[in-house]
Amino acid sequence: MGFDTIIANGIVVTATDTYLADVAIEDGRIVALGRNLPRDNAKCLLDAAGKYVFPGGIDVHTHLDMPFGGTTSADDFETGTRAAAFGGTTTLIDFAIQYKGQSLRTAFDTWMQKASSKATADYGFHCIITDLPDAQLEEMPQLVREGITSFKLFMAYPGVFMLDDASIFKALRASAKAGAMVCMHAENGGAIDVIVKQALAEGKTAPKYHALTRPTTAEAEATARAIALAEMADAPVYIVHLSCNDALEKVLEARDRGLPVYAETCPQYLYLSIENFDVPGFEGAKYVFTPPLREKWHQEKLWKGLKNDHLQVVSTDHCPFCFKEQKELGVGDFTKIPNGGPGIEHRMSLVYSGGVGQGRFSVNRFVELVATTPAKLFGLYPRKGTIAVGSDADLVIFDPKREHTISAKTHHMRVDYSMFEGIKVKGMPDVVLSRGRVLVEGDNFFGRPGQGEFLKRGACPAL
Ligand code: URP
Ligand code: ZN
Ligand code: ZN
Repeated sequence: MGFDTIIANGIVVTATDTYLADVAIEDGRIVALGRNLPRDNAKCLLDAAGKYVFPGGIDVHTHLDMPFGGTTSADDFETGTRAAAFGGTTTLIDFAIQYKGQSLRTAFDTWMQKASSKATADYGFHCIITDLPDAQLEEMPQLVREGITSFKLFMAYPGVFMLDDASIFKALRASAKAGAMVCMHAENGGAIDVIVKQALAEGKTAPKYHALTRPTTAEAEATARAIALAEMADAPVYIVHLSCNDALEKVLEARDRGLPVYAETCPQYLYLSIENFDVPGFEGAKYVFTPPLREKWHQEKLWKGLKNDHLQVVSTDHCPFCFKEQKELGVGDFTKIPNGGPGIEHRMSLVYSGGVGQGRFSVNRFVELVATTPAKLFGLYPRKGTIAVGSDADLVIFDPKREHTISAKTHHMRVDYSMFEGIKVKGMPDVVLSRGRVLVEGDNFFGRPGQGEFLKRGACPAL
């Protein structure tokens, strides 16, 4: 009698504990944790001495194969899940978009088609709602029953994705009743549109004007409005891609009042700033995403927010567009640059390096931010997001000493530049497993398209 796989002698880290143990895996699940587990008949023995063993990372904000800005994001579910795995992320929650006039079911079916034959690791979907007549409102509970237990709404991008306050309020009420969480893109799209039109009329067309026309106040106002609408609807709300201290203060104020308000930030807001636009020519287009980059001082506020649980999650908002031909659609007019940046591969190393490596928070808090809380908030826990008997064997053997310089020359994302080019990280995944199967070992990838499974998620635990 023996186990399928043993990860031997690693330092197992969960959101609450750090201890030396072997991890035994059978049929894709963790079946035992302890010292000196019998390993004689193990089909696969992985030595983790001196390394951490983390739960696989969970990135709850990705846009794979997404039509946007006149083009389509450059990673599909095959290349995106592969790049994610190289970075230690084994579960994604992507966004299925309901376009105006469509049913929510169409969005789900369309994204299942994109993902099911390609994904090399497990995935779920949030559903983006852009249009909410009664028929779609009535569809929401059915989607929740099928495992789509969160909806993304936009307060920005008028005419494309933006919903009015009445629709947002209705969606919040319907979500809470059905057991789902609303994820909010919080920026005042109406005000931003006026500022953008004025900039263009004044001949301000360079990429940096994308950032200069989207003030932090527009994000803070929408964050406060989202929270107020959620409070009136008696619903939880999750603010996505929070980028600045002004918005963070609104979240903190609400959490101090005991409201079920949650927020994520992304590595780009922790590492990059408006100064990244100080590059020649059109290069600044590499940093055009929404919300935009902010002044540098916001970064430390966000790191502190992560430490103190004012922010609960780090996701990537991975939405890659190649510089050549895709970002270039906006030469001469920043409003035509497809919004989004590539980051799915480097979240774990960037957050570990900047968070644990720089002494800002513990390794347990790191696990909580990148795996455990995402799993809990989005109905995947304890199947995902922790290391426990019975959990899926989504595991990362992570070398805290290995150094790496991020570069487009070596990354696995299907995009011709890196937002983090030249940034040095310390702490890299060595081996990555998804449901007990080795996906990544060093530079080698063993995953197969289609082996990732759709995750039918549970109800939002805040309800
Ligand atoms: O610029 C971004 N963030 N693109 C993706 C869409 C969104 O708003 O999340
Ligand atoms: Zn957004
Ligand atoms: Zn996004």
